[in-house]
Amino acid sequence: MRCRRRSMAPPIHTLLLLSFFFFCLRHSTAWRPWPHTKNNVTELEFGADKKYEGSSEIVKLKYHMGPVLTSNITVHIIWYGTWPSAQKRIIRDFISSISAADHRPPSVSGWWKTVQLYTDQTGFNVSRTVRLGKEKNDRLLSHGKTLTRLSIQSVIKSAVTAKTKPLPIQPKGGVYLLLTADDVYVQDFCQNVCGFHYFTYSSIVGYTLPYAWIGNSAKLCPGMCAYPFAVPYYIPGLKPLKSPNGEAAIDGMISVIAHELAEVASNPLGNAWYAGPEPSAPVEIADLCEGIYGTGGGGSYTGQTLNDEDGATYNMHGIRRRFLVQWVWNNVVNYCTGPNALD
Ligand SMILES: *[C@@H]1O[C@H](CO)[C@@H](O)[C@H](O)[C@H]1NC(C)=O
Ligand SMILES: *[C@@H]1O[C@H](CO)[C@@H](O)[C@H](O)[C@H]1NC(C)=O
Ligand SMILES: *[C@@H]1O[C@H](CO)[C@@H](O)[C@H](O)[C@H]1NC(C)=O
Repeated sequence: MRCRRRSMAPPIHTLLLLSFFFFCLRHSTAWRPWPHTKNNVTELEFGADKKYEGSSEIVKLKYHMGPVLTSNITVHIIWYGTWPSAQKRIIRDFISSISAADHRPPSVSGWWKTVQLYTDQTGFNVSRTVRLGKEKNDRLLSHGKTLTRLSIQSVIKSAVTAKTKPLPIQPKGGVYLLLTADDVYVQDFCQNVCGFHYFTYSSIVGYTLPYAWIGNSAKLCPGMCAYPFAVPYYIPGLKPLKSPNGEAAIDGMISVIAHELAEVASNPLGNAWYAGPEPSAPVEIADLCEGIYGTGGGGSYTGQTLNDEDGATYNMHGIRRRFLVQWVWNNVVNYCTGPNALD
């Protein structure tokens, strides 16, 4: 069953909201606590524009013959707005951890192994190598405090054509990561989106470059986009988990960055690996496992995770740090897998 948006009358609103919540919880495995405001009534939306069913009988992930990222992947970052260096370090460490070989399991590189299962027409797998590339600071918000899907492309254009230290133009293996600070609003942010990936139009940027945007939700909607390290006010009794790097919004953002990178690698131009009939609203390998961080995960339950000595929740080791990262769909076994699976 697919849980759709539903309107609820204000007097019994809370009660219905809760029963709807628990009903969907049992039937849905991909989960983020989306609220939706329409006609001044708060509604819950599950999985938003990227709904899916967690059952392997229903999921029909297909390969649509397009490219996947088989060459060494280089992630170039655009820091849009003001980014404290402590926050930048957490994100850089995560990206550098993807190809780091010598971490004790469960590791970030173990997590990437599921992404490596995806191949192109010629049988080449997604690259094992993911490197941190160049970085560009767009501290003064070249395109303002509110970005649309289209103006994001102009931000990327500014970064690759800057007079000083432009980001390299790397159509093969380059991935451009636009990270917006906590006071920047991006179209649909917090409505039903914490991040997305796409590719630039050559008419705007001059090249077709795969990119992803992820927002820092600290001020706008941590209960949604930094869940489970922050919880939404409309779900009483739910307690946030302690985050592994002491920055709830950034630790929550890590899993969204991971989500988008997994999908860029397996579907960089929107014509490779996805489920569903609609290329314009594809259900991709990370959408299928949103909210699942360990064995038994589903609904609002994260699944079996680990706890450090301070009580912080994580499920994988990386460079200098621990992270909590959602699992991704494994097309060999037809379910979500991750490095901390208990089998
Ligand atoms: C929505 O409802 C609240 C409380 O019931 C009210 O204060 C507010 O003005 C309403 N907003 C709109 C846009 O109708
Ligand atoms: C790709 O990465 C691997 C491992 O880091 C390295 O050995 C190889 O030289 C790289 N290939 C290219 C073409 O850069
Ligand atoms: C490449 O993909 C195939 C098919 O999913 C898989 O069997 C194989 O193990 C993958 N190779 C690597 C190095 O991950």
